[in-house]
Amino acid sequence: MTVPSDVTNLSLAPAGVDRIQWAAREMPVLKLIRDRFHREQPLKGIRMTACLHVTTETANLAITLRDAGADLRVCASNPLSTQDDVAAALVQEYGIPTFAICGEDNETYYKHIHQALEHGPQLTMDDGADVVAVLHKDRRDLLSGVVGGTEETTTGVVRLRAMAADGALGYPIVAINESDTKHLFDNRYGTGQSTLDGIIRATNVLIAGKTFVVAGYGWCGRGVASRARGLGAHVIVTEVDPVKALEAVMDGFQVVPMVEAAPVADFIVTLTGDINVVDRAHLETMKDGAIIANSGHFDAEINLKALTAMSETRRRVRDSVDEYHLEDGRKLYLLGEGRLVNLAAAEGHPAAVMDMSFANQALGAEWIAVNAHKLEKTVYELPAAVDQEIAHLKLHAMGIRIDYLTEEQQRYLTSWQEGT
Ligand code: ADE
Repeated sequence: MTVPSDVTNLSLAPAGVDRIQWAAREMPVLKLIRDRFHREQPLKGIRMTACLHVTTETANLAITLRDAGADLRVCASNPLSTQDDVAAALVQEYGIPTFAICGEDNETYYKHIHQALEHGPQLTMDDGADVVAVLHKDRRDLLSGVVGGTEETTTGVVRLRAMAADGALGYPIVAINESDTKHLFDNRYGTGQSTLDGIIRATNVLIAGKTFVVAGYGWCGRGVASRARGLGAHVIVTEVDPVKALEAVMDGFQVVPMVEAAPVADFIVTLTGDINVVDRAHLETMKDGAIIANSGHFDAEINLKALTAMSETRRRVRDSVDEYHLEDGRKLYLLGEGRLVNLAAAEGHPAAVMDMSFANQALGAEWIAVNAHKLEKTVYELPAAVDQEIAHLKLHAMGIRIDYLTEEQQRYLTSWQEGT
């Protein structure tokens, strides 16, 4: 049977298989879930559309969903993050319809989402809510067939909560990002490591001794700030949230507004989820040779229109590095076209953290499939017990044992009569 697909080159599949299996070594929790799903078939016959970064880790999730019985279609959640050998392997080796090409233009990106929706999904899985957006704007005819969905990322959850508040959300969605075993690890240690990895792969520039500005001190920003400091940079944090700003100060970082950070920065990395965080006024004062990157979900955090308008020429000087030669003579360097630098210039988060994120996705898909009929059209979190179970399984896989409360301790924690 031919598998519907649009990928760069199916002959890349063998390399993709090797790399998917390499990632699987670091994904023991997902493997346990896959084995159970294979036995129990919790998604049997359920049509699913998954719009995710097409990486080796995502391939392991897709195989897990397929083994659970799902009739799955996969498309990319970012035009630059697809690993073409993985997309080929998903089609050729694992028989999963996949629509994803690294470097695809905007039109192809949306064409792929439409192709992944063609079988009329009952469940959706998003990373950034683009499938939800297309269903609600362009394919409302399919909406009544969808019983539920899951969402991976902070930015997507913000969008979905706004839709739910407006009464515009057409079906219930589980916010995977809200699980502790997702955001505390993927956002912090995953983004921390993979963002620095992307910057280093793209530039091969020494980080030690440089001034490294991190815009946003959420879980992702915390991770990047800590890893940049670990490599010897002088790290400056910019924030709009006073609590997060205080936390950055007490974590030992210098905190200043972006107008003061931009002129001294050797690097600026944005991780805020908002637009024009590096705006024209900041670009006007940056040092000659400064490097700018984004590790937030959308490519809207750096004002690229202004950067282009201020530039006489733009040229690609290395893979993932564009030199903007400004009219005033300065040169600024933009990594990964302002898209997620960890996925555009590196391979995204390491498998060991995606193991937990995708354990949440797999269990989230099962949970919503079972519970959808009794849920409202709003945003849900996975039950705390599922989060705890994933943490236990991860610790077990790492060979780490912990203590358990005694009955006496449990009683103490639930009583209000015990005093000093
Ligand atoms: N998001 C960040 N890193 C990722 C990865 N390795 N795979 C899929 N999605 C990701």
